[in-house]
Amino acid sequence: MKKFGKICWVITGAGHFMAETCDFLASAGVSADIYFTRAGLEVARRYRQIERVEGLGLRVFRENDFSSSGLVFFAGGHYEALVIAPATSNTIAKCALGIADSLASNFFAQAGKSRVPIFVLPTDAESEIMSVTPSGRRIPIHPRPVDLLRLEEMGRFPGVTVLRSPRELDVLEWPSCP
Ligand SMILES: Cc1cc2nc3c(=O)[nH]c(=O)nc-3n(C[C@H](O)[C@H](O)[C@H](O)COP(=O)(O)O)c2cc1C
Repeated sequence: MKKFGKICWVITGAGHFMAETCDFLASAGVSADIYFTRAGLEVARRYRQIERVEGLGLRVFRENDFSSSGLVFFAGGHYEALVIAPATSNTIAKCALGIADSLASNFFAQAGKSRVPIFVLPTDAESEIMSVTPSGRRIPIHPRPVDLLRLEEMGRFPGVTVLRSPRELDVLEWPSCP
């Protein structure tokens, strides 16, 4: 089991696994800086998770405050791992294609170029998933072949680990909050 130093944790605009990810952050006491993409902030609000995350005593950044300093943080050794959880199919596609024009895709690119290990929890990992709306209704989602293809491509990037469920967040030994 690998133990990491400070973690950079990016929350993208995914309803699927949003609550489970925030449950993990709340219970595990992980020492991480949290970054919301613009959609991440909007979706976390709808799922009523923003106050929860902000109440954890961690540093929280939003894409509006912070656009592209990933280079400094990863190359400078400030972060020892990048986690993107939950990760939308939009972010996965950009990352897999080498696009780096959003907070999450830029961090993915810069972490990769600095050889910082990356852990990704995608929402669209199977041909059918059952998701839950902000009002609590269960709905089937059918990720497209392109979503699954981009995820497969991303999983072949050096240093990238694709997690298959929020439970897999537990397999890593994260640093605890001081
Ligand atoms: C309520 C809500 C829930 C969403 N859930 C998901 C999801 O589970 N998976 C996904 O790939 N996109 C989901 N989306 C769509 C993304 O938010 C959208 O593609 C956005 O552009 C992603 O931007 P980001 O990857 O920079 O965070 C959801 C959107 C809304 C409004």
